[in-house]
Amino acid sequence: MERENFGSKFGAILATAGSAVGLGNIWRFPVEVGKNGGAAFILIYIGCILLLGMPLMLSEFIIGRHTQSNATGAYHRLAPGTPWKWVGRLGVFAGFIVLSYYSVVAGWTGKYAVMAIGNQFAGAEPEALRTMFNDFASSPLEPLVYLLLMLVLTHVVVVMGIEKGIEKCANILMPSLFVIIVVLVVCSVLLPGASEGLAFMLKPDFSKVDGSVVLSALGQAFFSLSIGLGCLCTYASYFKKTTNLTNTAVSVITVDTLIALMAGFIIFPATSAAGMPLDSGTMGPELIFITLPHVFQQAFAGLPWLAYIFSVLFFLLLIIAALTSAISMHEIVTSYMKEEYHMSRGKAALVETAGCVVIGTLCCLSFGVLDDVRIMDRSIFDFCDWIVCEFCMPIGGILISVFVGWYMKKQWVKEEITNGGTLRVRLFPLFIFILRYVAPVGILLIFLDQFGVFKAI
Ligand code: PFF
Repeated sequence: MERENFGSKFGAILATAGSAVGLGNIWRFPVEVGKNGGAAFILIYIGCILLLGMPLMLSEFIIGRHTQSNATGAYHRLAPGTPWKWVGRLGVFAGFIVLSYYSVVAGWTGKYAVMAIGNQFAGAEPEALRTMFNDFASSPLEPLVYLLLMLVLTHVVVVMGIEKGIEKCANILMPSLFVIIVVLVVCSVLLPGASEGLAFMLKPDFSKVDGSVVLSALGQAFFSLSIGLGCLCTYASYFKKTTNLTNTAVSVITVDTLIALMAGFIIFPATSAAGMPLDSGTMGPELIFITLPHVFQQAFAGLPWLAYIFSVLFFLLLIIAALTSAISMHEIVTSYMKEEYHMSRGKAALVETAGCVVIGTLCCLSFGVLDDVRIMDRSIFDFCDWIVCEFCMPIGGILISVFVGWYMKKQWVKEEITNGGTLRVRLFPLFIFILRYVAPVGILLIFLDQFGVFKAI
């Protein structure tokens, strides 16, 4: 039977951009910008994307498209009988864990969209919003219902297949996401008092920059571009042989960065218009589920109907972003189960969804009844996030760069990137140099920093 493919090159770009654009852009990026010196962080982040993000994304594309195989099968084919297959296995494991806890937050965005539609933030003070969020997140049933809903939605799209499910869904959702975000940016920057927020994002404050800021930028770049878990490798295995990998990577990275910046252009101007501090670095769920509903009410104080529309659109935007990313995480595991264990797509997806329901439930309850269960001093949710972001992603990144830079035959790499010699790639030697030296060393620094082995500046 012929292997599935994306139907069009544009659809492939939209689906891959759908994976990259997620909660990482709309939630995590503005938090990092707020904490780390505004435009100074943005400049460093863009540097990281160009220097490491781009070569690593291309590397995953090369592995995936060359082998037309799932994340683990790809290494089987390129390096049979060697331990390299463990890079793929690490990705599949991480893909499973990341989907489990990401769906919990995706579920919260679902609940908040429903609340926004019901106009439940109107007139609520920050304390009331805090209680609202804490009561919801710690309740034993409601967040589970939303978690299940998100997982079922993801499951249905994945079961429908690459072209009819994932690509079709991206073709509808990504343009909608773009329209919503443009509307929100325009509304936000036109608010009276928005200029302070804009200036915060545009004027670099280098006094906040130290080694740890650079490392945060690297971590953010990885998460935002879905690097290191075999997700890009899996999607690239469905690219056509005529797809220009370099152009696709440039398009995906441009869209991802643009959306992250636009999220900042929504959040900072609205925050300054509401008269709230810009650099408080409110971490975690607080920003999205407590601060922003208040910010929107305050910013549009004289125009409650606009505050209503703004809140509804914002949470809709989050759901779309989360869903397209969740789908890509699901596909890493589904394609692995399908191809390595010869299952049907439906059965493979069911195994993945069922596993995520179990781990996701544990993560969900770790905000309530399982609050006091600690693994290495962390809640179950935080432990899962830690394992993926600070362990699997950097290790995956180092191994992928070493694999393509040192192990894979240069001729294969070149053939893949030039589509069999039909495209000119002028920066090929630079690409290989980065993969051999810059990427492994750079990422190793992030990794060691997490454990305090190496301390940045
Ligand atoms: N890039 C996604 C985001 O920014 O939210 C998160 C993500 C998706 C990470 C897919 C890893 C992955 F494999």
